[in-house]
Amino acid sequence: MQNKVAVVTGGASGIGRAVAEKLSELGCTVVIADFNPETGSAAAEAMGATFIQADLSDAEQCRSLIEQTAKQHGSVDILVNNAGFQHISPIEEFPVEQWNKLLAVMLTAPFLLMRYAWPMMKKNNWGRVINVASVHAMVASPFKSGYISAKHGVIGLTKTAALEGGEFGITVNAICPAYVRTPLVENQIADQARTRGIKEEEVVTDVMLKNAAIKKLIEPEEVANLVAFLASDQASSITGSSMTIDSGWTAQ
Ligand SMILES: NC(=O)c1ccc[n+]([C@@H]2O[C@H](COP(=O)([O-])OP(=O)(O)OC[C@H]3O[C@@H](n4cnc5c(N)ncnc54)[C@H](O)[C@@H]3O)[C@@H](O)[C@H]2O)c1
Repeated sequence: MQNKVAVVTGGASGIGRAVAEKLSELGCTVVIADFNPETGSAAAEAMGATFIQADLSDAEQCRSLIEQTAKQHGSVDILVNNAGFQHISPIEEFPVEQWNKLLAVMLTAPFLLMRYAWPMMKKNNWGRVINVASVHAMVASPFKSGYISAKHGVIGLTKTAALEGGEFGITVNAICPAYVRTPLVENQIADQARTRGIKEEEVVTDVMLKNAAIKKLIEPEEVANLVAFLASDQASSITGSSMTIDSGWTAQ
């Protein structure tokens, strides 16, 4: 993957950081895009990547991210749409602004970034778009209506773009992990305990791992390895797919 330019959104933390590290190790020129300037620039410095600050809930900042990357590095070859966050609330209390933001960051931003990178990928007759979706793109759980709706939407976007990219050497795939050991998961343990009225330690065993055949949290590096494979030439016939890393959750 020498000479490929990869944009990893949400690359300052968790899964995105592991993906950025892996693609850097494999020789890609990596751009970490994140709205957190402290963690973003520290992560980029640690792995010799570039950091571009962007709030992906803002359409103009999505456009500028792709433009800046093309200006600095000549192209965008690999786009990893990974930035995301969670809001836990019953439907009747779900804040409308949170719903709008969840869809903006996890559904509209992947569409916009792909839209702006597409002409460059088409011109090079090579491109990879990898959307970090979730097991919650396939099944639902209560109290996560915004997150789950955005993640289900990204599967539709993945399939449509895959059909359009086929003749131009562009593949588009989604990865659907169950619970991965990252700050996003650590931060929602207290929220889930409060919303469900259970103890924090019960959230991991009784909620997060309840449906898993393998009873452990997934490590970010496991997701990064699958991203790297999908970005490689070995995966050139894989497109439009939604791959689970879910410890057996959706096998039942
Ligand atoms: N951790 C899990 O269990 C899990 C499971 C399935 C899917 N996912 C998905 O994986 C992705 C990464 O999650 P993670 O667990 O690594 O989370 P994380 O909180 O560790 O990292 C997410 C990153 O996204 C960035 N981000 C959030 N909103 C942004 C915005 N508006 N603009 C730019 N950057 C923004 C944050 O600053 C952060 O650096 C998310 O899309 C999440 O839905 C996570």
